[in-house]
Amino acid sequence: MTAAPASTNTIPGVSPDIYSSADFAQIAKIIYGAAGIVLPQGKAMLVYSRLAPLVRAAGSVTFSKYIELIGEDAAELNKTVAALTTNHTFFYREAHHFEHLRNELRPHLLEKLRHRQPVRVWSAGCSSGEETWSIVMSLLGPDRSSGINMARSDLRVLASDIAPHAIQKAEAATYPVKDLSPVPEELRRVWTTEKGGDAVMADAMRQIVRFRLLNLHGDWPIKGHFDFIFCRNVMIYFDNPTKERLVKRFADVLEPGGFLYIGHSERVTGPAANDFQLVGPTIYRKRAA
Ligand SMILES: C[S@@+](CC[C@H](N)C(=O)[O-])C[C@H]1O[C@@H](n2cnc3c(N)ncnc32)[C@H](O)[C@@H]1O
Repeated sequence: MTAAPASTNTIPGVSPDIYSSADFAQIAKIIYGAAGIVLPQGKAMLVYSRLAPLVRAAGSVTFSKYIELIGEDAAELNKTVAALTTNHTFFYREAHHFEHLRNELRPHLLEKLRHRQPVRVWSAGCSSGEETWSIVMSLLGPDRSSGINMARSDLRVLASDIAPHAIQKAEAATYPVKDLSPVPEELRRVWTTEKGGDAVMADAMRQIVRFRLLNLHGDWPIKGHFDFIFCRNVMIYFDNPTKERLVKRFADVLEPGGFLYIGHSERVTGPAANDFQLVGPTIYRKRAA
């Protein structure tokens, strides 16, 4: 990433003394280093509008002053990263993944649980939780008592994101009822209850999910292996080297025969792609050793 000349006016009506294309280039470099997120030049306006409130709240008059601050203050840097994430998500997004989960994986996972074996799931880049709850409803299935039995067995779901505001919303587990409309009725009916116009996720589901702040670009405090990982519409923000590293790390933490679900416009790339077999649209299976 090359820095543009300092005097360039980036945003019409905003003095380059306040926010210049050099400031944008520096912020893009910092965010790439911290979170692997690539901010192309076309995002200069977005960066301005998302960060201007933080710049003001920090008492900095110019973006360059604020850049100095995030260089020294890790908490402020985290706020900057979170502010620049895109958290768009919705229930049952890319429905074919949940159908695959229900029809192809669930029977096998049920067997594992019946034999007292652990089942581990990761919703990586879960945003505000709609993906995670869609996974859990699909896993527990339409029969309440068998779902409750599953939830009481050794089934755990890790749901992680880099953005604290997203994790907070995910943990609240409460959404406007209309947001649940893409979820099959037989799952919604069993696993959510309505309260004052909101849909609240059932306690049985909440007990098996752990929401965590986690930077996919950093260390993963993870023990054991996952039966499947959802990492959808996250890698689109990364460049190829970062994607390839991530795919390799996912391969390392998946069980042999485990599944990786990615977003509709994403691809498993790099040397670790050989560890996977494409088994459905954007559904990959880790080859047995
Ligand atoms: C567009 S949302 C996708 C949400 C969900 N997976 C889906 O497909 O609907 C992308 C999420 O990835 C998260 N993200 C971006 N970079 C990340 C990183 N380095 N580590 C962890 N999460 C990250 C963002 O905070 C955001 O919530």
